[in-house]
Amino acid sequence: MKGFRAELLSLPHDPRVAGAQALRHEADGLLVVENGIVIARGDYATLAPRFPGLEIEDHRTRLLVPGFIDTHIHYPQTERIAAHGLQLLDWLDQHIFPAERAFADPAHARDVSAFFLDELLRHGTTSALVFATVHEASVDALFAAAVERNMRIASGKVLMDLGPEGLRDTPETARAESEALIARWHCKDRLTYAVTPRFALTSSDAQLAVAGDLLKAHPEALLHTHISENRDEIAAVLGHFPQASDYLDVYDRFGLVGARSIFAHGIHLSDRECCRLHESGAGVALCPTSNLFLGSGLFDLAKLDAHDVKLGLGTDVGAGTSLSMLATMGEAYKVCQLQGNPLDPFRALYLATQGGANMLGMGTQVGALMEGQEADFLLLDHAATPLAARRCAGLPLAERLFAMQILGDDRFIARTYIAGQLAHDRDAVKA
Ligand code: GUN
Ligand code: ZN
Repeated sequence: MKGFRAELLSLPHDPRVAGAQALRHEADGLLVVENGIVIARGDYATLAPRFPGLEIEDHRTRLLVPGFIDTHIHYPQTERIAAHGLQLLDWLDQHIFPAERAFADPAHARDVSAFFLDELLRHGTTSALVFATVHEASVDALFAAAVERNMRIASGKVLMDLGPEGLRDTPETARAESEALIARWHCKDRLTYAVTPRFALTSSDAQLAVAGDLLKAHPEALLHTHISENRDEIAAVLGHFPQASDYLDVYDRFGLVGARSIFAHGIHLSDRECCRLHESGAGVALCPTSNLFLGSGLFDLAKLDAHDVKLGLGTDVGAGTSLSMLATMGEAYKVCQLQGNPLDPFRALYLATQGGANMLGMGTQVGALMEGQEADFLLLDHAATPLAARRCAGLPLAERLFAMQILGDDRFIARTYIAGQLAHDRDAVKA
């Protein structure tokens, strides 16, 4: 058993709905962890006497928050971040598909998996929903690296039988390899399998039907894909599926829209699609840095909120420009500002933690450091840079959090803990 003394902040509920009740904050708090689980939490002065002799780490100058949940990211694209000049479909052809072909080599997949997960930890991200590649071994590599680090990760083999040369599977291999991966990894340790058709343009009807079969056979698995990101993409999808009423309807026709479905982007969704997302309980991963980088457009948070669609935040690296969920919260704020809708910093933190966890079906286990939840957390350092130290000195919580959201990156993550165990220490790395 161990205690962590710090300023504690988490958002067990959505502040859009619950207002001030959404927030749990202890200015001088104590988090008590046993066997990786939060067993008690409260004001230090009240709680400490209940645990005489408790070993306590003292982090009173830090803000302790739940680990970030990145709800959409591509690990094989890590090394292709920041590729110049193109929008989605050309960017995929010229930069991304060549990078993904290299994952036919399992040694390469293992090397990038280890680097990727260590980078997530360095950025304070403790859980993620991750695209691999079409290669079965790319998922083995990621899941094995996640088990080594005891991280709660969801992923799956990408289905793309209409993909480019060298990255194609078939409906039959998609089914067999997905089943094999599910048998090896799904619900083992802290892992979840995600059935992952790349997007509507890269799977045949037969393969989308296989994805639907896999979900029926494994109701605890997630469905992870892209939707409505780029105008040319949407036009191509509607041309390819003339019988579908809209983009979401393509997925719906194959049984891919449900409470465990996560759709990345959703920038240009119609009212009907938003209604259907709400009714089905499916979620949208908002990826602001990616949308700005690829020139895809601005997600409409007000519209998604008006339809009460489940939401999380994703970095979408390699189209996204940062692995930092703080930076992603900052860019989400700017995307909303462009539409006259200033995103509240507590809402942003909710989307980056408990909101994302709920969308990934892991909201009971992680997201808000409530008693009984797993102790994945990080320590934010508001004095990470000389400018931030000046800006944040003496600021109340909401303004301090907002400053970190706008100025933030990996330097602000002093430490990351997985199940109560230290997994990244910025200052030890520096020394
Ligand atoms: N749509 C289909 N594949 C991809 C991808 O790799 N990245 C993004 N941003 N969108 C996609
Ligand atoms: Zn993506």
